[in-house]
Amino acid sequence: MPQSEVIVPLHARPQPRDRFARPMRDLRISVMDRCNFRCPYCMPRETFHEEYRFLGTQERLSFAEIVRLARLFVQLGVRKLRLTGGEPLLRANLPDLIGDLTAIAGVEDVALTTNGILLGRYATELKAAGLHRVTVSLDSLDPQVFARMSGGFGGVEQVLEGIEQARRMELMPIKVNAVVQRGVNDHTVLDLLERFRGTGVIVRLIEYMDVGNRNHWRSDLVVPSSELAARIAARWPLAALAPTYRGEVAERYVYQDGAGEVGFISSVSQPFCGDCSRARLSSDGVLYTCLFATHGTSLRDALRGGADDDTLLEHIRGTWMERIDRYSEQRAQLSDAAHEQRKVEMFYIGG
Ligand code: GTP
Ligand code: 5AD
Ligand code: SF4
Ligand code: SF4
Repeated sequence: MPQSEVIVPLHARPQPRDRFARPMRDLRISVMDRCNFRCPYCMPRETFHEEYRFLGTQERLSFAEIVRLARLFVQLGVRKLRLTGGEPLLRANLPDLIGDLTAIAGVEDVALTTNGILLGRYATELKAAGLHRVTVSLDSLDPQVFARMSGGFGGVEQVLEGIEQARRMELMPIKVNAVVQRGVNDHTVLDLLERFRGTGVIVRLIEYMDVGNRNHWRSDLVVPSSELAARIAARWPLAALAPTYRGEVAERYVYQDGAGEVGFISSVSQPFCGDCSRARLSSDGVLYTCLFATHGTSLRDALRGGADDDTLLEHIRGTWMERIDRYSEQRAQLSDAAHEQRKVEMFYIGG
């Protein structure tokens, strides 16, 4: 029987563990390296200007290539898929891809990370294609602060409308991610939380990270989650929740008055590498085993070179089994030279 007709039970493939015994459970797929924002902490305008050379259509994986790889990742233990960018909604016909990904046996969760600008337009189609949920990046409700943090693109109202439309379409649970930078938007955090209290939308506050080499990261711009939690609890008392799953990125709290949940993503002050089960696939098909990686493994070259499924599986498994990444845990001990070592950029690898 030709290999493509063999149906392999999900548990039949040996599931790889990395060098620290971490399994691979979560695949984050960047479908588009372009974005319609220029957030200075991710794609500063001075670098990502009109002349910047983004990937060409042929360089990006096709939907068929992405689906083929996703199936193989699922055979190796992945249960959760997240589509990211840049801005994934800039990729034409994205619902077609979502339909194929949600149909893969063994996939339990398909989520999308977006800046929300095109969400109002696409939420209905995304839901119809089978998308489970969305996470929307929104750093501030203050129009001026928002403009500063988006590089002058988009608008708060349009993002709120996108969230509203996602709610109507029940793309739940809806999460809002806000990167917090001291002196930039930290004074607007309580307003952001207030807007979503009691709505079911979960806001998560992210410590500003030193991803890539182009955002001029400085440690004094990071607001530790403990500081934010204290400020929030002084207004709305909080109670800690247990993690929903092993390796969850956000620390979860509920408002004691019953107005819902808030999360903290504290990669700088409380790294969570110990349970990190996330693999990342760039839009040109490079597999990265850490958000702060310098190098990745090109699966596209193997795919386009005619590799069969077994060869690709071995490639992925081998890469994962060699994995020793724990950048956030090492950050504090890194020398300046190591800090400056080239790292992949967030817009290219996905959040
Ligand atoms: P849920 O599935 O909803 O729990 O979300 P998630 O854990 O996949 O988180 P999400 O994709 O919303 O990530 C939120 C932010 O957390 C990202 O944009 C990053 O800033 C940060 N983040 C996510 N994964 C990692 C990681 O592996 N390492 C580090 N250092 N930061 C991460
Ligand atoms: N630090 C923390 N989070 C970041 N994101 C992008 N760049 C950074 C950074 N330097 C987040 C965005 C979005 C997701 C795609 O990644 O806010 O939620
Ligand atoms: Fe675009 Fe998101 Fe990066 Fe902002 S953080 S530039 S919205 S990919
Ligand atoms: Fe995972 Fe790397 Fe983030 Fe640590 S720094 S949690 S290993 S992606």
